[in-house]
Amino acid sequence: METHEINNRFLTFFENSGHSRVPSASLILDDPNLLFVNAGMVQFKPYFLGEVPPPYPRATSIQKCVRTGDIDEVGKTTRHNTFFQMAGNFSFGDYFKEGAIERAWELITSSQADGGFGFDPSRIWATVYEHDAETAGLWSRLTDLPAERIQYRDAEDNYWDMGVPGPGGPCSEIYYDRGPEYGREGGPAVDEDRYLEIWNLVFMQEIRGEVSPKQGGPVLGELPKKNIDTGMGVERVAYLLQGVENVYETDLVRPVIARAEEFSGHRYGANHIDDVRFRVIADHARSGVMLIGDGVNPGNEARGYVLRRLLRRIVRSMRLLGVHEPVLPEFAKVVRDAMAPSYPEISRDFDRISDVMRAEEEAFLATLTSGSRIFDMAAEETKRSGGGILAGDKAFQLHDTYGFPIDLTLEMASEQGLSVDEDGFRTLMQQQRERAKADAATRKSGHGDLSVYRQLLESGETEFLGYTELQAAAKVVGLLADGAPVRSVAEGGKAELVLDRTPFYAESGGQIADTGVLVGSGVELKVLDVQKIVPGLFVHRVEVVSGEVGVGTELTGSVDAHRRMAIERSHSATHLVHAAVRGAYGKRAAQAGSLNSPGRMRFDFTTAGAVSADVLTEVEEEVNEYLQTDVEVQSYVTTKDKALELGAIALFGEKYGNDVRVVDMGEYSRELCGGTHVDRIGQLGLVKLVGDASIGSGVHRVEALVGQDALRYVRKEQLLVSQLAGTLKVPTDELPARIEDVLTRLRNAEKEIEQLRTREVLGSAGSLADKAQDVHGVALVAERLAEGVDSGGVRALAAEVRNRLGSRPGVVALFAPAGDKVSFVVATTAAARDKGFAAGKLVSAFAAAVDGRGGGKPDLAQGGGGNPTGIEQAVKDLREALAG
Ligand code: SER
Repeated sequence: METHEINNRFLTFFENSGHSRVPSASLILDDPNLLFVNAGMVQFKPYFLGEVPPPYPRATSIQKCVRTGDIDEVGKTTRHNTFFQMAGNFSFGDYFKEGAIERAWELITSSQADGGFGFDPSRIWATVYEHDAETAGLWSRLTDLPAERIQYRDAEDNYWDMGVPGPGGPCSEIYYDRGPEYGREGGPAVDEDRYLEIWNLVFMQEIRGEVSPKQGGPVLGELPKKNIDTGMGVERVAYLLQGVENVYETDLVRPVIARAEEFSGHRYGANHIDDVRFRVIADHARSGVMLIGDGVNPGNEARGYVLRRLLRRIVRSMRLLGVHEPVLPEFAKVVRDAMAPSYPEISRDFDRISDVMRAEEEAFLATLTSGSRIFDMAAEETKRSGGGILAGDKAFQLHDTYGFPIDLTLEMASEQGLSVDEDGFRTLMQQQRERAKADAATRKSGHGDLSVYRQLLESGETEFLGYTELQAAAKVVGLLADGAPVRSVAEGGKAELVLDRTPFYAESGGQIADTGVLVGSGVELKVLDVQKIVPGLFVHRVEVVSGEVGVGTELTGSVDAHRRMAIERSHSATHLVHAAVRGAYGKRAAQAGSLNSPGRMRFDFTTAGAVSADVLTEVEEEVNEYLQTDVEVQSYVTTKDKALELGAIALFGEKYGNDVRVVDMGEYSRELCGGTHVDRIGQLGLVKLVGDASIGSGVHRVEALVGQDALRYVRKEQLLVSQLAGTLKVPTDELPARIEDVLTRLRNAEKEIEQLRTREVLGSAGSLADKAQDVHGVALVAERLAEGVDSGGVRALAAEVRNRLGSRPGVVALFAPAGDKVSFVVATTAAARDKGFAAGKLVSAFAAAVDGRGGGKPDLAQGGGGNPTGIEQAVKDLREALAG
């Protein structure tokens, strides 16, 4: 059975029993605790917690998931995918254990002809949580499962939570026995390879704290209702139903392996080591495409780093299979063809996805090239010093600085007959990890314990009035100082303050937070920042200017309107620039980030190639031309599907729920956006692009000034130009030619001065030669020159003096002091060299006296030193060398 069909049957089965079909959420749902969505329940979390009333009592979904905690297991086991699909059914306070068990059993054991998966019931096992006899009883009562195939397991195995504080509960897992050829008898408790987990039923009923009940931590309390959260591993079911040996050989993954076979000429199935590489490639290629599809860009931190690591592991694995050419865009195509039937967005957005992969691969291949050079040098050095082991710190440097994975280093070392000090490498890696951990811990503590904020949410989300009001009365419903709840804060104190309603915009979607004041009877506060620390809760960072504020205090909030309007102009300008950039570069130019601050906007987007100045000029031209239409900016709330149908640009980091806000600026720009905007685009006045730069693989950044700020910028530039014109005494449009002319004349003059100086220096050659003194039959000219003759001049002069000494044995040594340095040149005549006086050797005889070093050929040598006061001593040493 094909994977798409498995998904289809699952959804249909649950739809037929009253579940609403809900599309997969983005892999990067806005949850401060999660890097990636890692389970079907994530998008429903607010419903479990009771933060938001569920729009339906039951739901079913196929959720895109990424888990990279076991990345090193990928390809080695039968069942570890970094990207996988989780099929789930959910009940929000509706049915509980009974409904979940009955339904799961029916779907897996019904025959395929009846729409089920047709698993042989005699091969099914179930596990239950050790204190949960109720569930074991239900399995016996509701299904044909005999008691000996129901096993009790401890919290480690049969308690489920998100890995962070939040909802959780005991679970019951369903296993399939692959048969005696795959391992030992005894059920899942004995062997999880032979007995493969296919479905997890979680009885979501409580809240866990910092320490998971899996590790013996306490349960903090009950959820408002008893819920069901199940997750069936689609890839695992696929591999069982498709009669293959592991998740990598299923219909949606295997095609990448086939493509990699074509590229490499190696055959999958020939040997274990290569097979692991093939599977890594296939798994990671899919994860890469899906992550980029949801808006992740390769980078050095957090999500971007995970993506980068996945993509680099593909390139590295291909290299180990002998392929050095770019491969990622080709693999991306194969993934697209496999995945698009379930995830059409991959097709729609394919050009961009492919561009991001290409850019990252090119960057990494360049890295590999420079890293290979460093590797070769290190290998050479190791061999030269007679060793056979490449040092651990070299391997670490290759890894740390050049992104060289250790197994690539190992492989390359073994090609050269070397081994690597892996222990040394690992020690250094461990030290680095600890440093990183310490860093992360410091960062985290800055945010305090999120549970405090979650508790505040219990009395409801903050009502945001700022789309229409800049001033509003409100009541303090929460007050924190240093991350802990307090009753009041007095004059001079700082606090975090939550209101029941607020006109202040909290930073999000690139729009920075509002500032302003909160005033009540006898109390005044300054609002410094506003953040939504947990979704729905606006936390105002305030300073108490006078009086005292407490929970319950009534205040009137006034947003700094002037500043807000400048921010709005920037934000609206960002939408227009975005639209224009997409017009110029096509849909593949996707927004990768933005910042809207008063009067200034920044917009990052991804493109494959370079961005030309001409195109940016056109973008600027187009945006400003469109401003003249002065269209009204309209915003409205609609469903996600409707918005996409209308062609709205949807950005990542989507919010929970199905309702979205759309902002239109005529037909020109339509985006999902929660920010605030001007009423009519004419209010922008002027949008002036002031700079653009590339900020890493495929990402480009443009900055622009808006409104009065744009005008000021233009005026400043204009003033600068007219000042220059005044100084150079030409009309402004003749400036470039005049500056060019002035620069040419300056360069010529400099050249002339240099020639004159050289001539002058050389002019002294005759008188210097006349000063020659005889030292044991050698004519010696040893002189200190005037300050500041450059080393070229000294050399020319020394050669000229030597010429004047003619056929005599002669040595010329000239010292040119410059500040606290001195450069020197020694030249010898042929006759002196015949007597055994080589310039290079003579330098060694005196260099120490000027704290210097130098060297060269027998006829001419030069050097420099740090002690001009030693020149006399140097001359003495030279004389002695000639005499001895
Ligand atoms: N949340 C559970 C899991 O991820 C069941 O969906 O396994």
